[in-house]
Amino acid sequence: MRKPFIAGNWKMNKTVSEAESLVTDIIERLSDVEGVEIGVCPPAIDLVSVREIIKNKGIKLGAQNMHWEEKGAYTGEISGPMLKELGVDYVIIGHSERRQYFGETDQSVNRKVKAVFDYGLKPIICVGETLKERKDGKTEAKVSSQIKAALAGLKPEQVVEVVVAYEPIWAIGTGESATAGQANEVIKGIREIIEKNFPGDAQKVRIQYGGSVKPHNVEEFMVESDIDGALVGGASLEADSFAELIIKTASIYQG
Ligand code: 13P
Repeated sequence: MRKPFIAGNWKMNKTVSEAESLVTDIIERLSDVEGVEIGVCPPAIDLVSVREIIKNKGIKLGAQNMHWEEKGAYTGEISGPMLKELGVDYVIIGHSERRQYFGETDQSVNRKVKAVFDYGLKPIICVGETLKERKDGKTEAKVSSQIKAALAGLKPEQVVEVVVAYEPIWAIGTGESATAGQANEVIKGIREIIEKNFPGDAQKVRIQYGGSVKPHNVEEFMVESDIDGALVGGASLEADSFAELIIKTASIYQG
């Protein structure tokens, strides 16, 4: 069985001192939760102090972005070796906000995904359609082209380590989540595309749902057959709501 993975994407929120107090509060609330992988993805500037606090607490550390080059003249960027030395586990790649506001393309996403593996990290690859694409019946086409491009050239042993986050853009930060059925259907489609391109591996790949996941709706998503966790924005910024999401997920998986 795939282990569910709930990760908090803090986006551009929390100063160092705020991050320290949030993650301390999260740890306090989750000390006896089992069966769920938990991750926090703070802004890059918070990674060092968050890493110190979560050491040996069973919480994974994620970055929100990474450049594909090892080093060099790329002002403002952060490289794989920098993240690796810090003890980062995961890197979110191709979030829709990075595609929308910072010009990331399927090609840059693919370069970044390969670099993430080159430096011994694991990617959380984000895909998802706009509202217009959904209304035009283009969800499947959009998401499959994103996923094919992101995974192009990977080795099968890398593909099974990938985490995919299906995040319909219209559901992010809007309070309007996809229905669990809608999300599961698209996620099943993603698994089929992976299976076609990497036969035998798709059942091992974890695919999260993201987009207005809250304590009141998390269970609807987590009971679905193909949804293996969540990438959480707003509700990960408060310890109470983030912990509640995880506790509810754990109880579902423990039956
Ligand atoms: P919200 O949970 O705030 O909708 O954000 C989802 C998201 O973008 C996580 O990466």
